[in-house]
Amino acid sequence: MSELIPVLTETEIEQHIHQLAQRISDDYRNKNLMMIGVLKGAFVFLSDLMRRLTIPVEVEFVRLSSYGKSHTSSGKIEIPKDLCLDVKDKHVLIVEDIVDTGVTLSTLAAHIASLNPKSVKICALIDKLERRKTDCQVDYACHTVEGGFLVGYGLDYAEKYRNLPAIYHLKL
Ligand code: IMP
Ligand code: MG
Repeated sequence: MSELIPVLTETEIEQHIHQLAQRISDDYRNKNLMMIGVLKGAFVFLSDLMRRLTIPVEVEFVRLSSYGKSHTSSGKIEIPKDLCLDVKDKHVLIVEDIVDTGVTLSTLAAHIASLNPKSVKICALIDKLERRKTDCQVDYACHTVEGGFLVGYGLDYAEKYRNLPAIYHLKL
């Protein structure tokens, strides 16, 4: 039997997002902000975060090749759904569910940087430190953990648990 151990409650997530939205609103005031969500995991986080901002924002999504049913990244990232909006003259904030090895985000950040935006920064719901392989810098994080496999609030294991309103450590 798999076990779900609570990591963040709904209320805690709400509080973290409120604080994060205030910081982002301050940092990007009078700048053209475009948030780019990484599908599918980040859609729940992005939808709550953008509604807490007090500044204008454009929203775009990309889809990257994902973990599938395994716990570890293949290390090879593909982009099955690329950007449609133009990032030129925009300050891009990539919004990701969780940064683990950092391979996914380094690849995506380099791709977006090649399209000549004004700046590129990274915002993650969870910054998971233990297995980081790249020097990819998480500029904004809601919560930091050492390790473990987390599910809920958009995070999945084999496409399950995304709908849970809180975040849990999944013990298989
Ligand atoms: P990275 O390239 O190793 O940083 O992998 C990042 C991606 O792996 C995330 O966007 C997630 O889709 C997935 N991932 C990594 N750790 C977890 C986890 O604890 N729970 C759910 N998905 C995870
Ligand atoms: Mg993801």
